[in-house]
Amino acid sequence: MTRLLIVSNRVSPPVGDGKANQGGLAVALNSALRVTNGIWFGWSGNEIDQFTGQINFARNDGVTTATVDLEAQDVEEYYNGFANRTLWPLFHDRIDLAEFERGFAGGYERVNARFAETMLPLIAPDDLIWVHDYHLIPLGAELRQRKVKNRIGFFLHTPWPVLRLLLSLPSHRQLVDAFFDYDLLGFQCQAWRDSFLLYVREQFPDAEIGEDGVIRLDDRVVQVITCPIGIDAQEFVESAQSAQAEESREAMHKSLDGKSLIIGVDRLDYSKGLEHRFHGYERLLADHPHYLEKVALLQIAPPSRGDVVSYQDIRKDLDALSGHINGEFATVHWVPLRYVNRGYDRTSLSGMFRAARVGLVTPLRDGMNLVAKEYVAAQDPHDPGVLILSKFAGAAEQLTQALLVNPYSPEELSDALKQALDMSLEERKERHKALLESVLREDVHWWLRTFLDALEDDDADGESAQVISLEQKRGGGGGGESETGRSPMQSRSFA
Ligand code: ADP
Ligand code: F6P
Repeated sequence: MTRLLIVSNRVSPPVGDGKANQGGLAVALNSALRVTNGIWFGWSGNEIDQFTGQINFARNDGVTTATVDLEAQDVEEYYNGFANRTLWPLFHDRIDLAEFERGFAGGYERVNARFAETMLPLIAPDDLIWVHDYHLIPLGAELRQRKVKNRIGFFLHTPWPVLRLLLSLPSHRQLVDAFFDYDLLGFQCQAWRDSFLLYVREQFPDAEIGEDGVIRLDDRVVQVITCPIGIDAQEFVESAQSAQAEESREAMHKSLDGKSLIIGVDRLDYSKGLEHRFHGYERLLADHPHYLEKVALLQIAPPSRGDVVSYQDIRKDLDALSGHINGEFATVHWVPLRYVNRGYDRTSLSGMFRAARVGLVTPLRDGMNLVAKEYVAAQDPHDPGVLILSKFAGAAEQLTQALLVNPYSPEELSDALKQALDMSLEERKERHKALLESVLREDVHWWLRTFLDALEDDDADGESAQVISLEQKRGGGGGGESETGRSPMQSRSFA
């Protein structure tokens, strides 16, 4: 089997404590790497005084990791800065929160160049290289500039923004230009792939876009596919039936004392729509008082990206709002909203999902929302709960049997909660059956196979000769110019 070299900003090996495995990317890649003989390269999460490029290798539960430390300035400008204060808000339709600082762009370029330089010795001639997420968009171009000829794929875990939003980024053309140095580009949803192709059509009029999503620009060829990420569904189904999950479900039932549980599990991120979710729940309690003391909302939300002000703000706002809702509705015997800021191990979580009559996954805009798939996989098929899913979650294209809602509308959320709580067993079973089929069919192994088959297939555009001649070109000659004819500065400047 061809060796796989995965690169992502965060490297979270499976260490068995829930905290390290938060985040869809980490969870999915751990599942994927276990079935390949691969290496996972990225940032250690640690800071040092001066970047050395020293790689630390480790092996945990069948996964080899190779990590580097970054300087404080790198972390500030690249991770907290360009990745999480510029691209993340922009890619999640929050242009009001996006910050455009030249220093951030410089840090983003620098760290991508450092990653490329440091990982060069790890690359064997036949390796497939798979780069993940918005932190590392220019990495492929950086590798090509260093004469890496391997096939390189890129997968975006976030949404891709609509054209007019992306145009607000000063370096939007350079950012997108970097995608043409990959062989394969994967999006979670059809809508975001279409949005990307529309951008290319408008901003790169010289690019030829084939029906099959193969783009040719000068001598560069990239295939663009939709490939929604899944969970390790079978494993999650089994985990939800394990003794540990059963214990967690039992404990939850006991604490609920006959009340119906509504559950939400998300990183504490403004994209997850938690404030709107709380308002929807408040509306349910206000408009339908017969639910008072009959339901409880458990929101698990471990803090995330705490150095970024917008994340500090959302945390403060949620603290206040949860206090307000409990102050308004709680009685001496009942806490309507249990708001918990910590992580849990995945097996206990699966038991909590199984105990919940309703799963609330209502982001304002999000990449996939693996949590939605986990909730479905954890249910008892004979007495399943109901998934309420935002129309703006990536998962909504696949999980059409969920109750799909507009997460901005407290009324719609309240109506959906009522519908879910009142739903007959027959309808619950019918919806769940269809959802589970989809979650099992398009699981993480399917995702991995689909992406890697396309990446391995250098005949994907039906004109292998063209791809081969491009590969040969990449192999030839040194010199200061890249083989695309662009100078390194042209292709790299994000400022
Ligand atoms: P994102 O990648 O934006 O965080 P996803 O819903 O796609 O969103 O993935 C989140 C992953 O992190 C899921 O696998 C979920 O189970 C896990 N997770 C989220 N919150 C917690 C928590 N409190 N404890 C343990 N795992 C969590
Ligand atoms: O899935 C989106 C994502 O941004 C991943 O790239 C990331 O690992 C995860 O969410 C958690 O975010 P962070 O790594 O910033 O804690």
